[in-house]
Amino acid sequence: MAYITFLDTKQQIVKGNEVKEFLSTQDVIYEKWSVDRLDENLKKNYSLTAEEKQQIIEAFRAEIDDLSARRGYKTEDIVVLSDATPNLDALLDKFKEEHHHTDDEVRFCVDGHGIFTLKGKDGRYFDIVMEPGDLISVPAYTRHWFTLCEDRKIKCIRIFVTPAGWEAIYEENEVPAN
Ligand SMILES: [Fe+2]
Repeated sequence: MAYITFLDTKQQIVKGNEVKEFLSTQDVIYEKWSVDRLDENLKKNYSLTAEEKQQIIEAFRAEIDDLSARRGYKTEDIVVLSDATPNLDALLDKFKEEHHHTDDEVRFCVDGHGIFTLKGKDGRYFDIVMEPGDLISVPAYTRHWFTLCEDRKIKCIRIFVTPAGWEAIYEENEVPAN
């Protein structure tokens, strides 16, 4: 279950219903999709073939389609980050920079962990620490950044409208070109 830590006071929200409730005040969708349905290889293997990636996506097809119908998402893929990823540290440096997107950023954590730090509606920053089974949909234009946890690995399903909509915009007041 995901939990929240506020960056300024270190106050935490750890109870499932309170996490979900707090995130809904920020217009962030939070859902739990059980990863028990996946066999161990699909969970633990970080060098997935295209076919294995598709098997993971299909295992969550019903949930993906339901969320996509509600939010207008059109496609999905799998992203894997681990120490086996070329240039992992350079990638992480990039993900650590505050940015936003013109579409929602939707991530389902299949394995590993990750931290999405969001700028709340009142300007307070908070971490969402994600574990396997956590889905979040961060609304378009929400300022945020991403880091890994100590295990330095995550396997995620990304769900989106178009790849153009998730291009990172680093300047807060930049008007998108399209
Ligand atoms: Fe992002």
